[in-house]
Amino acid sequence: MSDKATLEYKGDKYEFPVIEGSENELAINIKTLRGASGMITIDPGYKNTGSCESAITFLDGEKGILSYRGYSIEELAEKADFLEVAYLLIFGELPNKEQLDKFHQDIKSESHVDEEMKKILDGFPKSAHPMGVLSSLTSALVAFNPESVDISSEKEMYDAIVTLLAKFPVLVAWAMRKKKGLPLDYGDDSLGYVENIHKMMFKKPNQEYKKNKIVIDALDKLLILHADHEQNCSTSTVRIVGSSHAGLFASISAGISALWGPLHGGANQAVLEMLEAIEADGGDTKKYMAKAKDKSDPFRLMGFGHRVYKNFDPRAKIIKVAADEVLNDLGIDDPILEIAKGLEQEALNDEYFVKRKLYPNVDFYSGIIYRALGIPTEMFTVMFALGRLPGWIAQWREMRLKNEPIGRPRQVYVGENLRPFVAVEKR
Ligand code: ACO
Repeated sequence: MSDKATLEYKGDKYEFPVIEGSENELAINIKTLRGASGMITIDPGYKNTGSCESAITFLDGEKGILSYRGYSIEELAEKADFLEVAYLLIFGELPNKEQLDKFHQDIKSESHVDEEMKKILDGFPKSAHPMGVLSSLTSALVAFNPESVDISSEKEMYDAIVTLLAKFPVLVAWAMRKKKGLPLDYGDDSLGYVENIHKMMFKKPNQEYKKNKIVIDALDKLLILHADHEQNCSTSTVRIVGSSHAGLFASISAGISALWGPLHGGANQAVLEMLEAIEADGGDTKKYMAKAKDKSDPFRLMGFGHRVYKNFDPRAKIIKVAADEVLNDLGIDDPILEIAKGLEQEALNDEYFVKRKLYPNVDFYSGIIYRALGIPTEMFTVMFALGRLPGWIAQWREMRLKNEPIGRPRQVYVGENLRPFVAVEKR
């Protein structure tokens, strides 16, 4: 495309190419801006800044559309399983039966975690938040798998990816088992990927593991819905850490820390704690709506609003239906679900929320399902990380294969001008 955008400043004109994405999104390529004009752009929070061209995930926040590699999230959630989606995100195409079987087999053969890792886990107090534990253990994996990946070798890249997809669920399960005081266990290679994760998390030492299809299906769906979301805070973290050529495991460990915050993945824990607090306070949703709108009160309606979606988050729509189904199927009558639905209704009809285009996001209902599945609240963000792992890997791989330059934003300095040093006794 030959379109150009012109910037005019103090009589000088600068031209920049406009690039167009496959869904007709337009972007001004300002690569030459500083060289030509001496100026930079500033955009705190990167609200208008694209960091890369990517072929992995498309989302249209105005229309509420999300797709992975061209497949709609609705279709994938209904028809695919999590491992297929992981393969799709990472390698670009849905696997055929043979490719999928090999992928799963390769993952199984790497699913042991060095026994020494248990000593690292032992060093954490039981009260430690499992996100901190998971990030540390993922980082520690580097020490046990020290070979750095030669990215020019597809085989080395594949091996590192398979190793991480194999060992990460064990770390997730260990983080939860430590919290619950359960012995650390390994998986069962005869089971499906998600079923195995469920077993590793919940198997009691003195009881047979019983498969529950409803639970496994719900978990599978939740993981698919969280699997990628283009250049969000944690994914951008993974890409920027990886851009310094830090390894895959180190980059993912950084992504886990970024996800932890309550404005990002930590919102699912925050939503449930908020709903529980509202229930304990008598269930008065109006009171909390008023708090959320009061600018002198730091309280925000957790699970509402999104940096990119200014329409319904399509994942929230699917999860809301799934929450209803799972609770019905499991015969759970959870008052928290009623409070959530009440809050949603009030917010959707409230001028403050309507004007700011604040809709429920993916985290608003996911915690209710996790709770129904018996997953402790502090583990919710860990479950998000488990789902997001294929997306982080796909984004890291894409960034490395394109040999993108190191991520290094600039700034506008607004501090003191150069001044002479003053000795301590004269200050
Ligand atoms: N409750 C009340 N008011 C809100 C909320 C909320 N949840 N979210 C945004 N607003 C208001 C802001 O106060 C602001 O109002 P103003 O224009 O009068 O100043 C306006 O809406 C715009 O909000 P920003 O914070 O500027 O929007 P931004 O895009 O920076 O933030 C975010 C998006 C962080 C998700 C925000 O909506 C939020 O904090 N939501 C609650 C936390 C949450 O659910 N996070 C999960 C996001 S999904 C994910 O990461 C997986």
